[in-house]
Amino acid sequence: MQRVLLINQNIKDSRLLKKTFQNYYPATEIVKARDSVGGLDILLHERVDTIFIDSAFSLTDIDFLGEVQKNNITTPVIVIIEEGKEILAAEAIKKGACDYIIKDAGYPDSLPDVIERTLSASILKKDAEEKREQRSLLFKQIYKSHKWWQNIIDAITDYLFVIDNDYKILRTNKAFANLFGREPADIIMKPYFKLFDLKGPHEWCMLPKNKDSLCHKYIERKINESIYLISCFPIFFDNHDAAVYIMKDITETRRLKDQVYHLDKLSSLGTLTSGVAHEINNPLTGIIGYTEMLLMKNGGELSKKYLQNIYDSAIRCKKIVKNMLAFSRQAPACKNLENINDIIDKTIELHEYRLKTTNIEIIKDYEEDLYAHIDRQQMQQIILNLIINAEHAISETDRSGTIEFKTAYDKKSNNIIITVSDNGNGIPREALPKIFDPFFTTKPVNKGTGLGLSIAHGIIAEQGGTIEAESKIGKGTSFIIELPRTD
Ligand SMILES: Nc1ncnc2c1ncn2[C@@H]1O[C@H](COP(=O)(O)OP(=O)(O)OP(=O)(O)O)[C@@H](O)[C@H]1O
Ligand SMILES: [Mg+2]
Repeated sequence: MQRVLLINQNIKDSRLLKKTFQNYYPATEIVKARDSVGGLDILLHERVDTIFIDSAFSLTDIDFLGEVQKNNITTPVIVIIEEGKEILAAEAIKKGACDYIIKDAGYPDSLPDVIERTLSASILKKDAEEKREQRSLLFKQIYKSHKWWQNIIDAITDYLFVIDNDYKILRTNKAFANLFGREPADIIMKPYFKLFDLKGPHEWCMLPKNKDSLCHKYIERKINESIYLISCFPIFFDNHDAAVYIMKDITETRRLKDQVYHLDKLSSLGTLTSGVAHEINNPLTGIIGYTEMLLMKNGGELSKKYLQNIYDSAIRCKKIVKNMLAFSRQAPACKNLENINDIIDKTIELHEYRLKTTNIEIIKDYEEDLYAHIDRQQMQQIILNLIINAEHAISETDRSGTIEFKTAYDKKSNNIIITVSDNGNGIPREALPKIFDPFFTTKPVNKGTGLGLSIAHGIIAEQGGTIEAESKIGKGTSFIIELPRTD
C-alpha cells in the first residue's frame, strides 16, 4: 500500500485531497502532519512513498526541502502552490521538489489528473530507482566475484594466461604479467606472443578451435634461459572457446635433479674407485720398495736412469691412488669448529714459496669471525687445489697473476661464502659443466688427475654446502663455496 504524507493546515484542501485519493487510489494510506516540523519527524521515523506539502511550509516556515536533502531522504516531494504564486514552483523544483500542483480555479476538477500525473511520475521514478539500485547491486556482486577470482589466480605463483581463438589474452594472473614488468589489466586482449617479442605464437601454443590437437598436455620448453613445464587446458563455456596455459618455472628443480644425478654418479664411482685404489696400492708399494733397493745398488748408468723413470712413475701412481682414496673418502672426516680465514691463511703459507717464484700476487678480503664445523685437512686440500688450479690457469697467460680470497657471511642463508678468483685463462663454456666430474682434466698428461674439484665437490656437499664456478674465457675464474656457518 502506498503511503502519502500530507503536510497541510488547510482543512478544505486536506479533505479534497483525501477524497480524491479515496476515489482514484483506494490503496493509499494518507498520513497527515500539520506542519513541516511534524512532517519531517514522520519522514525520519516511518516509511513514506510520496509527500504533498503546501508551499507555505516548504519555502517559508523552515526550509523543508533543504532539510529533506540534508537528511538524504529520496522520497519525491510534490508542492501545492497558491494561484498567483507560480513563481514559487521554479524555486521548489530548484530546491529538489519532484513536481507541483497549482491551486487555480479548476483545481478541484483537475486534481485527480494532477495527482495521477505526479503519482505515476513518482512511482515511475521510484521504479526506475529500484531497478537502478538492483542493477548496481548486481554489478557490485559481479565485480566482487570477479575480484575474488582475480585474487585467487593472482595467488598462483605459476604463470597463467587464457587465450581466445586469436591468441588474445582473455585473463591472466599477476605472476605472468609481472614476468614482463606489467600488470594483468595492461595486457588483457593483447596477443600473448607479443609479450615474448615474437611475431607469431610459439610452436607449442595451440588454439582452442583446434579442439582435436588441444587435449590436456604438458610440454617442457626453454624460454629465455629458463626451463618451463607448460600445461594447456582447453575450455568451452557458453559458446566461447578458450585455452588456459600454465607455465611452471622448473629451472631450479631441473638443476637440483641434475645435481642429485651427479652426486649419485659420484657416489657409485666412489665405491668403485676405493676398491680399485686399495687393490693397486699394495703392489705399488712393492714396486716402489724394490725400485728403491735396486737404485741403491751399483748398476750401470742406463739401468739407473730406467730405474729412476720406473720410480718416478710409481710415485705418480701412488699420488693418483692417494687422490682416488681421498675422492672416495674412506677415512672418516675429523670435524672441529674451525676459523675459515685461518685455514685459508695457513694453506697460502704452505704454498707461499711457489707463489713467490711464479710472481702471483695474493689479495685478501676477509670478514672477521667466520667459523664452520669442518675437517681442517679436507678444507686445506680444497683450498690448495683451487690455488694450484688458479696458478696453472695464470701460467697459461702472459699477464702477471693475482688470486683473490674473499670471505663473507650471508645472513639470509646463514652461509659463509668463500670466493677464490683468479685472472687466468678462464674455462671454456662447454667445459664448465664438466669440471666437477671425476677425471676431467685439461692439463697435460702427468700434470693433473682431474680429481681435485670432484673431491672438493664431494667434501663440500657432505658439509651441506655448495661449490660453483663462474668463468669468463680469457679473463679469469671464480670458485664460490658456500658453507653453513656455526657459532
Ligand atoms: N682456476 C681455473 N682456471 C681455469 N680452468 C680451471 C680452473 N680450475 C679448474 N679448471 C679446469 O678444471 C679442470 C679440473 O680441475 P681439477 O682440479 O678437478 O683437476 P686438475 O687440476 O686437472 O687435476 P688435479 O687437481 O687432480 O691434479 C682443470 O683441468 C681445468 O681444465
Ligand atoms: Mg686441480
